[in-house]
Amino acid sequence: MEPIRRLRFFLSWTLLLLLGFVESDTPHLFFDWTVSYSQVSPLGVPKQVIVINDQFPGPVLNVTTNDVVNVNVLNKLTEPLLFTWNGVQQRKNSWQDGVQGTNCPIPPGQNWTYSFQVKDQIGSFFYFPSVLFQKAAGGYGAIRVNNRVVIPLPFPRPLQEFDVLIGDWYNADYRDLRVSLDKGIPLPQPDGILINGLAPYQANFAFRTGATYRLRISNVGLKTCLNFRIEGHLMLLVETEGSYTLQQYYQTLDIHVGQSYSVLVTANQKSGMSYHMVAVSRFSVPELAGAAVIHYPGSQGNSKGPLPTGPDPFDYRYSIEQARSIRWDLAVGAARPNPQGSFRYGLINVSRTIILENDMTVIGSRQRYTVNGISFVHSDTPLKLADYFQLGDVFAINAIPDKPDGRNPALGTSVMDLRYRDFIHIVFQNPLPTMQTWHFDGYNFFVVGMDEGKWDESKRLAYNMLDAVSRSTVQVYPNAWTAIMVELDNQGMWNFRSQDAEKWYLGQELYVRVKGEGQDDPSTVPARDELPIPTNVIRCGRAGSM
Ligand SMILES: *[C@@H]1O[C@H](CO)[C@@H](O)[C@H](O)[C@H]1NC(C)=O
Ligand SMILES: *[C@@H]1O[C@H](CO)[C@@H](O)[C@H](O)[C@H]1NC(C)=O
Ligand SMILES: *[C@@H]1O[C@H](CO)[C@@H](O)[C@H](O)[C@H]1NC(C)=O
Repeated sequence: MEPIRRLRFFLSWTLLLLLGFVESDTPHLFFDWTVSYSQVSPLGVPKQVIVINDQFPGPVLNVTTNDVVNVNVLNKLTEPLLFTWNGVQQRKNSWQDGVQGTNCPIPPGQNWTYSFQVKDQIGSFFYFPSVLFQKAAGGYGAIRVNNRVVIPLPFPRPLQEFDVLIGDWYNADYRDLRVSLDKGIPLPQPDGILINGLAPYQANFAFRTGATYRLRISNVGLKTCLNFRIEGHLMLLVETEGSYTLQQYYQTLDIHVGQSYSVLVTANQKSGMSYHMVAVSRFSVPELAGAAVIHYPGSQGNSKGPLPTGPDPFDYRYSIEQARSIRWDLAVGAARPNPQGSFRYGLINVSRTIILENDMTVIGSRQRYTVNGISFVHSDTPLKLADYFQLGDVFAINAIPDKPDGRNPALGTSVMDLRYRDFIHIVFQNPLPTMQTWHFDGYNFFVVGMDEGKWDESKRLAYNMLDAVSRSTVQVYPNAWTAIMVELDNQGMWNFRSQDAEKWYLGQELYVRVKGEGQDDPSTVPARDELPIPTNVIRCGRAGSM
């Protein structure tokens, strides 16, 4: 072992113990997942679906904050596999993020154990397979991170919790969809909307009259924004992606691809009746609807009434106003700052402004999506491993500019270097007539503003600098912008992506490397404040021989 690496090894384990990353009394949970194909016909058309322990959707990952979670994944697919934990922050641990830039995929026939601590996060998230367009075959499931009993909930304890996974669905095989995308053929419109993997009217929920339920709703689909609503019932919004929100009632809720919400629903309607819960496509034609049925005691069969009506499918203004109304509950947030510790974020000086403009283009006669002119392509070696082993030729830092600069669109492996502990301002500018949703792995960020049109400095005057919601996935409306602020308190190599599976697959992503001052020369300072490379790390590409 050469001295530098030995030093790093020694320091990282010392740090680990000193900093108390994992306390000895922390519960360790173990899950065994066998991932395979199963023939399922959610919309009547047989399809090879990715199942976990024979389940679709996969089992709920039900854990408590600060638990150490071990998920042993046995890959019985015919292809490599990775899971990512959408919205779970993986503190100091991008090694476990499960995307192609951080991990070598688990080869077919092999198993690999993820091991991570869910630290300082309480809320609703989901997992999904992140490579090879496998999300189009299912393989997703809910993640609940519960509060420890010593920390009270900011609302009365519901009688029961339900996971509600909503998403668009394609009858086509995911490999055929992938081949089409590779050929430059755009994804068609979906065939329908599933709720918990089931066709309309197939999913059932039992309500007891007078009781209150928590619904943890995630949009696990590929590209369709969904409006969620329940016949005859209001929804009290309480949480999104690990932040408690200002508690407000909603009749309908727009849930964009990759977003998660918790709502409380009180069963204040009539016994003997049943009611529809629906997820209806937004901003696209034709209108598609998923539906589930809520049964009160003694109800006979399905609700006879029509599906509850919602907003006009192309009413963007309605949707923007709703998004702005979703704010952080300061009374809860201030008492227990989020991991960023930055609940008074309005007082922090911004150290850098980055503008990320998405676009659609054609490169080499294929449709591609770009960020600031670069369409991301993967290297043969995960960026995290390349960085760790100092393989200089895998990616170039700052291949992507901070702001769109009018360059000709090109393929590239974009990595942006960001400084640990900086407080940065990012503007997503969407010049296209389609919805966008953006996600930042490893972080929650404050959604300080969004509006139609083009962003300029003057927009900052209208930012919410007090109680903007802190979340990990945010939408950008057509020909519009969204601004976020984020404290970079989590070192590592993090994926910044479109949650739209098609745009992601075709290049709308980048990675950011967040690291401390003085770490530019890794031979002098080992990675501080980051967990050491896992002992079971899979090596591939140019890291294969390291
Ligand atoms: C989830 O875990 C919590 C805490 O361990 C437990 O109380 C609850 O019953 C579990 N729920 C499910 C659905 O397994
Ligand atoms: C594979 O599974 C076996 C048996 O459960 C386990 O002992 C081993 O640690 C797993 N291997 C990896 C790399 O996680
Ligand atoms: C922010 O910047 C202003 C002006 O440069 C300075 O006076 C202030 O102390 C800074 N605030 C913090 C919290 O660093």
